[in-house]
Order: sequence, then C-alpha cells, then structure tokens
Amino acid sequence: MTQEFLAPILPATQGMTLPLPGSVARPEYAPGEREALVARIKDLLREKDAVLVAHYYTDEDLQALADATGGYVSDSLDMARFGNEHPASTLVVAGVRFMGETAKILNPEKRVLMPTLKAECSLDLGCPAEQFIPFCDQHPERTVVVYANTSAEVKARADWVVTSSIAVDLVRHLHEKGEKILWAPDRHLGRYIQQETGADMLLWPGGCIVHEAFRADALLRLKEKHPEAAVLVHPESPEAVIELADRVGSTTQIIQAAREMPHKTFIVATDNGILYKMRQAAPDKTFLEAPTMGVGATCVSCAHCPWMAMNSLRNLAEVLETGANEIHVDEAVRVKALKATQRMLDFGRSRRATGTPAD
Ligand code: 13P
Ligand code: SF4
Repeated sequence: MTQEFLAPILPATQGMTLPLPGSVARPEYAPGEREALVARIKDLLREKDAVLVAHYYTDEDLQALADATGGYVSDSLDMARFGNEHPASTLVVAGVRFMGETAKILNPEKRVLMPTLKAECSLDLGCPAEQFIPFCDQHPERTVVVYANTSAEVKARADWVVTSSIAVDLVRHLHEKGEKILWAPDRHLGRYIQQETGADMLLWPGGCIVHEAFRADALLRLKEKHPEAAVLVHPESPEAVIELADRVGSTTQIIQAAREMPHKTFIVATDNGILYKMRQAAPDKTFLEAPTMGVGATCVSCAHCPWMAMNSLRNLAEVLETGANEIHVDEAVRVKALKATQRMLDFGRSRRATGTPAD
C-alpha cells in the first residue's frame, strides 16, 4: 500500500504568525471574582435555556461548570453528539471554532454561542477550502475523509468527517470495502491510521502546533526516570513519540486507559487541560506531562493549546449576557457538511450499538 506526502503543496499556515503552545496564560481572577462569575453563569444558563458543552482542553473552571450545570465535557465527537441530543435551545460551546461550527451544522434550529470567536486551530487554518477543494478534484478516485478539525467548507467537500476516536475504525472499514482515501488535514494522525489499517492514503500536510511540539528524545529520558510509568499519546503527535506509547488514542480513549490500565503512573502526551478529567477518573494515580522541549527549555511541558486557553469564565458570562459570538454557517455549505458529519455520528452509533459499522 502506498502512502504519499504532498511535497509540492506547502502547508497553508506557512507565513502565518501562530501563537505558541502554552503562550496564552490560564485566566486569573481577583478574590471572589470566580465565585461571582460562576453564580452569574449558572443563572444565565437557566434564563437563556442554554447548556454548556466544553472540550477536555479548556480551563478546569469551565469543565467544572459544565459538569455542575447538566452540561458536558468531552472529546470533539461526543461534544457534537451531546449537543445534537440535548433539548436546550442554545448551545454554548467552549472550545475552538470548528467545534462551534460542527454544533451549528448539526443543529441549525439552535442558537450556538462561543465564549470567543478567536479560538482557531492550526489544523483548520492549515487546510483552507480554496486549496483543499481543487486538490480533491484532482483525485476523484479517492474517498475524502476529513478530521473534524476543519472548516464547514472543507467538511462540505468531504465524503466523511471523523474524529480521532473513530478514525482508525472508519478507515479500516473503507479500506476493507476497497476504497482509497484522501485524508486531511493532520499528517501525523493520517500516518498513524495508515500504519494501523494498511489503507492506501494520500495525506494533506497539516499539523497541530501543540502535539507537534512533543519531543521523543526528552520523552525517552523521562521514561528512563520513571520506568514504571505507562505512556499515553494522542495520535496527532509525531511518529517518534507515538512509537514510545503504551496506548495511543483520542482524548476520551486515553482517559479511559488511565482508569483501566494497572499502572500507577502515566506520562501523558496531549494538551495538559486533559489532566483535570484524568485525575477525576483515576484519583489514586500520578500523571506526568510529556516534555515538549529539550534540555534548557524554560518550561518542562508547554502543551496547552493557545486557542483553547482563550475560553474563560469572563467571556463565557459576557457572551451569555449579550448573545454575541453567535455561530452562523452558510445554509448551502451547512447542508453539504451535514451529510458527511451525520455519517460520522451514525457510524459511531451503529458501532456502539451492534459493533457493525453503518455504510
Ligand atoms: P479529540 O477529538 O480527541 O477531542 O481531539 C480534538 C483536538 O483538537 C485534539 O487536539
Ligand atoms: Fe487544534 Fe491542536 Fe488546539 Fe486541538 S490542540 S484545537 S488540534 S491546535
């Protein structure tokens, strides 16, 4: 089976100034401010018939609030599913833009708000529709599978949308049916899926700035210091880091691994926002952050998505009060993007219900 890298196509983020992982500080609050904001947000959620859906990488204040108010904290697939099934008329999505867009694609009748519209994702930025669509057109024989971390326009050109929690299963399923894949945008995840499934995959050269920063050499040194620890890795990480993993999986899958594996210590290679839920899932275990820099770096791990960090109690309260930052998706684009996104949810549901994938 072949695996190609698109050398002639330069990553679209070249030339852009992107924030560095760990560069957006966690929000700080004056004495009493946090409690006042939490109380105000709880009232506003009730008043506005709204529910808070937060990603594992957001600040722990937001995750705690989502849990405390009947909302949800999860990975990108489950956030989409929860928002789709919840009866609230307003979904407040704390995460990055593609998560708000996915919520709108699935729920056109609902109002979707985000604490900030500045929360991008390097995968989404690195795969602009105006480059991606002509590229797909050059490869009509391939089934287009895109990661959820993409714009609505890119999803509209895809045959399937997937998240990391079902990507391997879906590509294996397509490969067994004899289909060749065009995969975008994360090249590390694409390479990992190709290795796991043996599928014929053409890879778009995108990358996550947070996961690309993990360093195999420094991880190896940390492993030597903690030989008892198991290494948990998100598959957006580079190949050399994945090779050192005891378990590779989506955010939800590695939280589950932390709970179920017999180890008492784990080294975690993903955004450190996940540690809040990991510690809840396995309170008696110890979690170490995988290093993102070599010797001499100013921080041991800077693995925090600068865009996820833009969500705070302050901008959440503000957006609920004002109704600002509403997500809109062009209706023609939404209808096309819905097809590939709904397929992802159906595939996930049927796999959970029967173990058999939907076609
Ligand atoms: P999950 O789909 O595992 O939640 O990952 C989303 C993401 O942005 C990872 O960096
Ligand atoms: Fe995108 Fe990476 Fe941030 Fe996830 S962690 S939202 S993939 S930039």
